[in-house]
Amino acid sequence: MTSESISKIILSGEHSVVYGYPAIAIPVKKCKSFVSIKENINENINVIKAPQISKEIYFDLEKEKSGINPLEKTIRNFLSTYKLKNIPNMIFDIYSDIPIASGMGSGASISTSIIKELSCFFDIKVTKEEIYELVMETEKIYHGNPSGIDPMVIVHEKPIFYIKNKTLDFININKNLFVVIIDTGIRSSTKKVVDYVREQLNLYPNKYNKLLSDLGIISSKIKDLINNCSNEEFFDLINENHKLLKELGISNNEIEELIEKVKECGADAIKISGAGKGGVIITFVTPDKIEKYLNNLQEKNLKLVEAISLNLL
Ligand code: MEV
Repeated sequence: MTSESISKIILSGEHSVVYGYPAIAIPVKKCKSFVSIKENINENINVIKAPQISKEIYFDLEKEKSGINPLEKTIRNFLSTYKLKNIPNMIFDIYSDIPIASGMGSGASISTSIIKELSCFFDIKVTKEEIYELVMETEKIYHGNPSGIDPMVIVHEKPIFYIKNKTLDFININKNLFVVIIDTGIRSSTKKVVDYVREQLNLYPNKYNKLLSDLGIISSKIKDLINNCSNEEFFDLINENHKLLKELGISNNEIEELIEKVKECGADAIKISGAGKGGVIITFVTPDKIEKYLNNLQEKNLKLVEAISLNLL
């Protein structure tokens, strides 16, 4: 058996969502993580195999060390939450086609796949809410203070309008546009960038509170207008969104240079998506331009991750 989970992008509201402002995330169903479990009949130990990140982790459930890997922690949390006894030794095979440390929720997706696969292996019915709670425990190890938006969209697999601890609205997006995800090729730690924004907020509270609040306002506008506004109005909201993220300090020269190249290829709107300082950028084009745009990206050797239609998402 293999269990799988999707990835995500943030359409609007990264960082501000950590401080209680609204954000919108959309599922990326073509980039996924996969986990399969089999009994380890040859060795008296559990093994996690994640060859893509050159990780092979061996652990004995009877002996808990401090500072353990988040993947192992997810497994232990599941087993203790459901009070499982007489557990056989297992081998976890992990595979993912989600770029790592790139703002697409690869960590949350892998944790979700581990939990889904454990629930199949032990034949336990687990609700989406329970999966979310368990993934959040692991997210706290990765991020310190996660807003919860990544596991929320990954578990539910639908576009969401989200306010931390307050609002979860499923939204229908029906816009005749493509969102094209491009990898900057720079790996970025969400925790480090979230910590950076917090430090800046402490140093410059007026400036940062205003930026975070303005980002929240854009998320609400996008939610209200997305299906009814013109493409130009939508592009303005996305470009304005990126301008605020840049002022927040989460862009850099490499990202801005890439954005210039992507504009030359024909993108109408562009923003960082996720924590920033690397990871992916998301770009928007109309369907009549998509083919040419994708060719131009290829000619310039830019790293396309995925192109998704926003029609009936
Ligand atoms: C990460 O996908 C989005 C951030 O806002 C962090 C979070 O919400 O936990 C940067």
